[in-house]
Amino acid sequence: MSGTENTSPESGSAPESGSAPESGRGSGPLLSVRDLTVSFRTAQGPVNVVKNLEFDVPRGGALGIVGESGSGKSMTSLAIMGLLPKGGTATGSVRFDGAELLGMSEREKRRIRGDRIAMIFQDPLSSLNPYYRVGTQIAEAYLSHRSGVSRRQARAVAIEAMERVHIRDAARRVDHYPHQFSGGMRQRIMIAMALSMEPDLIIADEPTTALDVTVQAQILDLLDEIRGETGAGLILITHDLAVVSEVTDQIVVMRAGETVERGAVEQVFSDPQADYTRRLLDAVPRIDDEIGVLRTTEITLPHDSAVPGTGRSTR
Ligand SMILES: Nc1ncnc2c1ncn2[C@@H]1O[C@H](COP(=O)(O)OP(=O)(O)OP(=O)(O)O)[C@@H](O)[C@H]1O
Ligand SMILES: [Mg+2]
Repeated sequence: MSGTENTSPESGSAPESGSAPESGRGSGPLLSVRDLTVSFRTAQGPVNVVKNLEFDVPRGGALGIVGESGSGKSMTSLAIMGLLPKGGTATGSVRFDGAELLGMSEREKRRIRGDRIAMIFQDPLSSLNPYYRVGTQIAEAYLSHRSGVSRRQARAVAIEAMERVHIRDAARRVDHYPHQFSGGMRQRIMIAMALSMEPDLIIADEPTTALDVTVQAQILDLLDEIRGETGAGLILITHDLAVVSEVTDQIVVMRAGETVERGAVEQVFSDPQADYTRRLLDAVPRIDDEIGVLRTTEITLPHDSAVPGTGRSTR
């Protein structure tokens, strides 16, 4: 790794080759990323947008990937999911529950995606189809990954999943369309969709960025609650250090595809090793205990404010 290692990840050494059964559930970390490099062919030659990335997600653990725009966070998650855009290739190793994902056949990857690894994106509207009722969409996603399930059962799963993400009156709301929900509610629906799969790993890429601060906090609480309830591992991708501090145990700080720093959240927060991390930390708003005000000296507060009752920002 090119950056600073704050502490060793739980299993910082290379994974023991052949120690985990190919198809069975391994006993090592849930996800183990080693020497992951993502490149794109460009007119100027290959460009590495993620370089030699290494981290583990323990079973039931939560890892935050933090960095400014363009640092390679989304490309990391897409490489793990086998969903890199055209022209992108991933090398290195991504072992999920003992099985190597890089180089896996499309068919095998499809089985793992959704079924065992679920993704939640920044903008739920781009993932939800405006023309279908939300319940139908959750049920369809569930049916596509489960055989021998009736539509009636899938609908019951959808209602239950909506209840689990605290959507009130889920039995009625299941028949509503995406536009009938606020931004925060739509993100809850995406989380419900992910949950209905009972995944072992949830990758959330900027799940709260499009939401106002109050709703952000609720979604983070929900992710944390779900992790506790289901024992699923979580990768939370964000440019906001305050977000990772609430939900994750370990963090990786990325910049321009490089790992700047990684380690336990408390350690990175209390004793950041890299200048870049220090600068990111300086930009985190803090409540000053003594005078009880938000210190805004080094941050630019967003100009938008919440529209009461809609869960949407004015922007
Ligand atoms: N199809 C592509 N071809 C070439 N380069 C690409 C392609 N897609 C993305 N990139 C580059 O890869 C780099 C990493 O992009 P990525 O989307 O992972 O950033 P990010 O950290 O998720 O940023 P953001 O916080 O804005 O979402 C960027 O510099 C981007 O320009
Ligand atoms: Mg991104």
